[in-house]
Formats: sequence, C-alpha cells, structure tokens
Amino acid sequence: MKYYTLNNGIEMPAIGLGTFLLPNERMSEIIGEAYRLGYRKFDTAYKYSNERTIAKALKENGIKRENIFITTKISGDDLYLWRYFCRKSFLNIRNFTSVKKSILKSFRELQTDYIDLFLIHMAFPNFLKQWEELDKLYKEGRIRAIGVSSFLPPHIEALKEVSDTVPVLNQFEISPLNTQKKLITYCQNKEIVPEAMSTFAHWRSWEPRKEIVENENIISMAEKRGKSPVQIVCKWMLDQGISIIPKTDNPKHLAENINILDIELTQEEKLQIDSMDLGKFLNYNPYITLKNLPKKYRDWKGFE
Ligand SMILES: NC(=O)c1ccc[n+]([C@@H]2O[C@H](COP(=O)([O-])OP(=O)(O)OC[C@H]3O[C@@H](n4cnc5c(N)ncnc54)[C@H](OP(=O)(O)O)[C@@H]3O)[C@@H](O)[C@H]2O)c1
Repeated sequence: MKYYTLNNGIEMPAIGLGTFLLPNERMSEIIGEAYRLGYRKFDTAYKYSNERTIAKALKENGIKRENIFITTKISGDDLYLWRYFCRKSFLNIRNFTSVKKSILKSFRELQTDYIDLFLIHMAFPNFLKQWEELDKLYKEGRIRAIGVSSFLPPHIEALKEVSDTVPVLNQFEISPLNTQKKLITYCQNKEIVPEAMSTFAHWRSWEPRKEIVENENIISMAEKRGKSPVQIVCKWMLDQGISIIPKTDNPKHLAENINILDIELTQEEKLQIDSMDLGKFLNYNPYITLKNLPKKYRDWKGFE
C-alpha cells in the first residue's frame, strides 16, 4: 500500500474504499474481502446511513480498529429540520441539534472512541461553526486529522476565521472529465491532499461513465498492460498525488482497484487523459456554496 503523510504527520493509505450506497446487507462480506485484499481505509459519512453497519462488519471480520483508517463526515441533513437543500435555502431551517452532538453521533454509530479523519461534508451555511467544533475535538485528541469536502479556495481561506488548523485533505470530484488541475495545485501548495470522489459514477447515474471507461485512448492504455480502464484512471490520479476511494461491491473490481501501483503511464498518456477535461461537474457543483461564505470572502472570482 502507498501512504500519504498528511500535514500533521499522520500516515494515510492512498487508496481506500468508498462506501456510499454499498448494500448494507452485504457490508460484512465486502469489508472482509476488501481487508483481505489489502484495503486499510474506508470512507463513510453520517449521511450514508452505514456507519453502524461498517462497525459491525469490522467486528464480524475480526479487524482491529488500529489496523484501519476511517474517514467520516458531518451530516448536514442532521442539522436541518427537513434536510439540507443546496439550492432551496428557504427550506433550510435549522433544528435544535448542536453541531457537536451531530459529530459525536458518528463516534457512536462507528462504535469507536477516535476517528482518523473527520470531514465537513460540504460548505454548509454553518461550515465555520462545524470547523470550530471539529477543531476542538481534534485538539482534544479524539480526531486524528480534520479536513473538508468540495471546498473551493475562499472556503478554505475562511477557515482561518475560527482556527489556525489547516485541513489535511479536501475531497472533491476529480475525473478525466473534470480534471480540477487548478484546485489540485491550490490544495497541494497548502499541503492539503486532494482526494477524488465520484470519478466513475455519480448520483444521477450509477453506471460507470461510458465517456471514461469506453474512451478509445484509455482502453488502448489498459489493453497494452493487461489492465482495465478504471485501473488506468486510478493510477493517473495517484501519479498526481491524489488519494482515491473508488466504490464497488464487485470482488473483481475491488481487487483491480488496489492493484495499480505497478502501472507506469508515460507523460504522453497522462497528457492524453488530461486533455479529456470538460470542466463540468457531474455530481454537484460546489460553486453553489459560495453564497455560504462570510461576506468578505464572497468576491472570489473563480480561478484565473
Ligand atoms: N464528499 C462527498 O460529497 C461525496 C460525494 C460522492 C461520493 N463520495 C465518496 O466517494 C466515493 C466514491 O464515489 P462514488 O461512489 O460517487 O463513485 P465512484 O467510486 O467514482 O464510482 C462508482 C462506480 O464505479 C464502478 N467501478 C468501481 N470500480 C470499478 C472497476 N474496477 N471496473 C469497473 N467499474 C468499476 C462501480 O461499479 P461496480 O460496483 O459494478 O464495480 C460504480 O458504478 C463514495 O463511495 C463516497 O465514499 C463523497
């Protein structure tokens, strides 16, 4: 396994298993198989309603807590009366749940007394309060590292309003169709590891995107090496210093996604994949959360 050293000195596996929408009834089998194959990082979130099932699956497979790295995320939905609606702000009525209580729910669900990495799921209107509370638990030693998801530069800059802690990681959509070069460079200049989500599918379609897996160039790169197109794309990301968490419940795919370290892509091949960029978000567009910034950060005009 390849590891990244986070900006606070913690070691994090570069490859993990995304768990959004993995079937709960098969979680024990999937987690057990992933662990046997060498997976040591699991990405979940309160919103995925699977933290408890993952805890159970770890227990059933006799996996020791200290041998794995768990990433989870604060639920935005838990903090709102109905749930958090990105676009319809008039529906976003806060309930009486405190941010700290909401964070602690994940500890209970995961049946653990520490979390390796806790992320803000997206820049909710109260993201500074969420950062403040995460930072307190981080400084108390209950969370080993804290980070963010789908944050743009001004969101990251605004965190300074409540704490000097720099996020260790930013999880956001990265794929050949949305290469995110500028956000990746911005993060890496600040020693924030970029982590790719929704590279192959997204909530509008659970099929892997044909534009990627059926791309002629990627297929040819894969065939030359006896690998699959998904493996090629995963290695293209790792080579850029990106952490990856592809989701699958297929044992063959589980094995493929972790067996990529021996792939050597040429500079020309990497540029070929880079050139597929459309700059279009296929999951959700984080620019809609710019309105949640404190006023003085709102004049960000996007990447030059
Ligand atoms: N922070 C956020 O807001 C956010 C949002 C979305 C996702 N995430 C996290 O990121 C993780 C990954 O993103 P995602 O679940 O949206 O999509 P994804 O992992 O990019 O794509 C999943 C799709 O890829 C296919 N796939 C995986 N490995 C394959 C392989 N080797 N060959 C062929 N197909 C393969 C899967 O099909 P099979 O099952 O058939 O293999 C599935 O259709 C999530 O599970 C979640 O943990 C975070």
